[in-house]
Amino acid sequence: MDSRTRSRGAKGRWVLAMGAASTVMTSSAVVACAAPDVRPPDRSDEVATADAMVARARFDTIAWLNEGSRVAHGNGVYAAACTECHGYLGDGVTEYATRRGLKVPSLVRRDWRLAGDIAAVRARVFSGHAAGMPTWGLRGDARLSLRDVDAVAFYVMTQLRDDALAPPRPTLKVRR
Ligand code: HEC
Repeated sequence: MDSRTRSRGAKGRWVLAMGAASTVMTSSAVVACAAPDVRPPDRSDEVATADAMVARARFDTIAWLNEGSRVAHGNGVYAAACTECHGYLGDGVTEYATRRGLKVPSLVRRDWRLAGDIAAVRARVFSGHAAGMPTWGLRGDARLSLRDVDAVAFYVMTQLRDDALAPPRPTLKVRR
């Protein structure tokens, strides 16, 4: 074997090694692209996705036997899903929220910005908020259906708030 053949042989092996390396690089790039994204969704992305969905929801097609059944259903949803943060009275004063440093707004203030706007309340319940309100419409098995969302919004508007259908609070007369 002369020196020329030896060097050609060496070069051939080098090219082969490069080929193998680039195959490894290409296949790992393919794996990286195909791998599922397992990161939890960013909260603001999740809220934006839910906003787009709830904007198309047809709440007006949800039928209730009567107002009482809508209220009763909403009461159950509120007790199960909302009281921990918003409180039974809707004033937002709860130990849970305080412990977590959550700023939970009162749903019963007279000058509430959402007063009378049930569509906005449904949308907020469905989508939540990055500041600590869960995205109820997209919580997997624990999600609220559109029917649940409608009922709980109706419950907040007509039962928790005393400026709507709820009877006025009695005023105590103190005898002197
Ligand atoms: C884990 C705590 C938590 C739970 C549970 C929760 N909320 Fe909230 N909620 C919040 C926080 C925090 C905000 C304030 C978000 C913000 O900064 O606008 C909020 C905001 C709201 C608002 C908007 C109020 C406003 O003045 O802008 C409505 C309406 C509301 N929640 C209704 C509900 C209802 C109905 C439920 C039950 C289905 C519920 N929330 C469950 C924490 C919670």
